[in-house]
Amino acid sequence: MTLIFAHRGSSGTFPENTMDAFFAAEKSRADGIELDVQLTKDGEVVVIHDETVDRTTNGKGFVKDYSFSELKKLNAHSLFTSIEHTEIPSLREVFEWMSGNRLLCNVELKTGIIAYPMLEEKVIQLIHEYGFQDRIIISSFNHYSIIHSYRLDPEIEIAPLYSNGLYMPWVYAKSLHAKGIHPHIRITPDSIIIAAMKEGIAVRPYTINKEEMMKRLFSVGCSALITDFPEKAYELRIRI
Ligand code: G3P
Ligand code: CA
Repeated sequence: MTLIFAHRGSSGTFPENTMDAFFAAEKSRADGIELDVQLTKDGEVVVIHDETVDRTTNGKGFVKDYSFSELKKLNAHSLFTSIEHTEIPSLREVFEWMSGNRLLCNVELKTGIIAYPMLEEKVIQLIHEYGFQDRIIISSFNHYSIIHSYRLDPEIEIAPLYSNGLYMPWVYAKSLHAKGIHPHIRITPDSIIIAAMKEGIAVRPYTINKEEMMKRLFSVGCSALITDFPEKAYELRIRI
């Protein structure tokens, strides 16, 4: 069965990377959530996509220049102002909530622009604290970050994110000790999905919002898809 990961939570219907979006993902019966992490100046792992707070909150400036308590005062509703108030969650808050459900979680390390000191160590430590080793997939466009995570704990699954074509990506994945790949859908024809899965490599393309594309991935038996609209994906999957 093709698993459904809610991209930044149910971000098509709620403010991305907020608890509202994660609650909605659970309600829509997604199998997992995807979220992005950055680090505050006092070392808290926080869930936000951009390096700055400008696009998604009522604040301005870099996440790395805020303390966690300062960040908590911002309103993260910017993309859905119909919601009165919602906060930037910490990864700890998300894990605390996950203690009460069975969702999987794809943690994307946003280390492509800013080199956050000890981000990988902090994420792995939290995973251990909650005993989530078998519920987490760590991904990143920065493949050094996932290699570093693997070295910290080889039991936790890693997966490279990429948006440019790779020749035989399963070979590359294996060289990183990754058990899965997270390619952009544009470079993910059925032939790549079938070949990678035959080689034992899970394929979880992003970001699948169109019905036809969801249907194609369900039909080919792709390992998972990452979508802003988990509810729509779930409704389609039960009909296939
Ligand atoms: O995990 C897939 C996707 O989240 C990667 O791109 O920019 O949405 O974080 P982005
Ligand atoms: Ca992401």
